[in-house]
Amino acid sequence: MAKKTPAKWTRKHLLGLEDLSAGEITHLLNAAEKFLPYATGRKAAPQRLKGRTVLNLFCEDSTRTRTSFTLAAERLGARVIQFHAATSSLKKNETLLDTARNIEAMGLDAIIIRHADRGAPHALAQAVACAVLNAGDNAHEHPTQALLDLLAMRHRLGRLDGLMVGIVGDIRHSRVARSNLYGLKKLGSRAIFVGPPLFLEGLDDIRTPFEKSTDLDAALPQCDAVMMLRVQFERHERNVPSGGVALNLENYKRGYQLTAKRLARAKPGAIVLHPGPINRGLEITDEVADGPASAILHQVTCGVAVRMATLSLCIGALDHQHKAARPKTRSSKRGRTS
Ligand code: CP
Repeated sequence: MAKKTPAKWTRKHLLGLEDLSAGEITHLLNAAEKFLPYATGRKAAPQRLKGRTVLNLFCEDSTRTRTSFTLAAERLGARVIQFHAATSSLKKNETLLDTARNIEAMGLDAIIIRHADRGAPHALAQAVACAVLNAGDNAHEHPTQALLDLLAMRHRLGRLDGLMVGIVGDIRHSRVARSNLYGLKKLGSRAIFVGPPLFLEGLDDIRTPFEKSTDLDAALPQCDAVMMLRVQFERHERNVPSGGVALNLENYKRGYQLTAKRLARAKPGAIVLHPGPINRGLEITDEVADGPASAILHQVTCGVAVRMATLSLCIGALDHQHKAARPKTRSSKRGRTS
């Protein structure tokens, strides 16, 4: 099994979980745990990012991730610039990279990017000098979402190894499913993707082996946690140009909606997760979303702590890089040789 001893964090970018080691993920989770007392803002957080500037470069809609990164950065003392794609010069054909470079020229420590194109955060990380954090790129990765899911599971279930997590629904279009698979497997747990055949197609980009099932009722008895995914109607046309995904909603509910009766089939003490936003009454009933097994709002609170940790660590790595690149002064050279 992969080594889970926390590993030193040296990256100025957080682009995904696929490339991280188990030790790095554990380090991020442990750091987030320490920020949890400050996550609701009721206790003043240490001003680790005082004087820093962070850009929220969101080119896709968001409620939780944008708000969570904003609160995390501001509570640590940073100034946050909100970029709104719909009223920006992207509308006048400026490229994403020119946009980012121009704003960086005004002074930035980190860019948080959400974009509809897979790999956009990676291209941005090549083009700018500041830290880059991926807030979701198409159906590729959403690393801070998976980290907050892992933190919520660790809290509610007491561990992150030896778990079986059912990830249910629109896997095909889900960056959350992918990032969770990478994180869970590295930490010694299992993930089973569950959904109708059309949502279990188009997963060829995933290089990590995964389990899958089209039978939710059969999969549930082995699950310690059930992560319900939103049906991403807005991506069906875009990602499946050959006519999109034709989903019969009544059949979908019959086979895959998480009801209280269904949830009773999962392991005793199983928890329910959902990254949001929820299609209430489609993938999950109100009774389950708001019921005692639901960890959905706890996930959101964990998200602020995760974003405090990832921003602090990535900007810390950036500072370290700047320091290492500075020419040595005569006195520091003398100090080294004496
Ligand atoms: N979970 C998540 O990414 O939610 P938002 O789209 O509201 O940011």
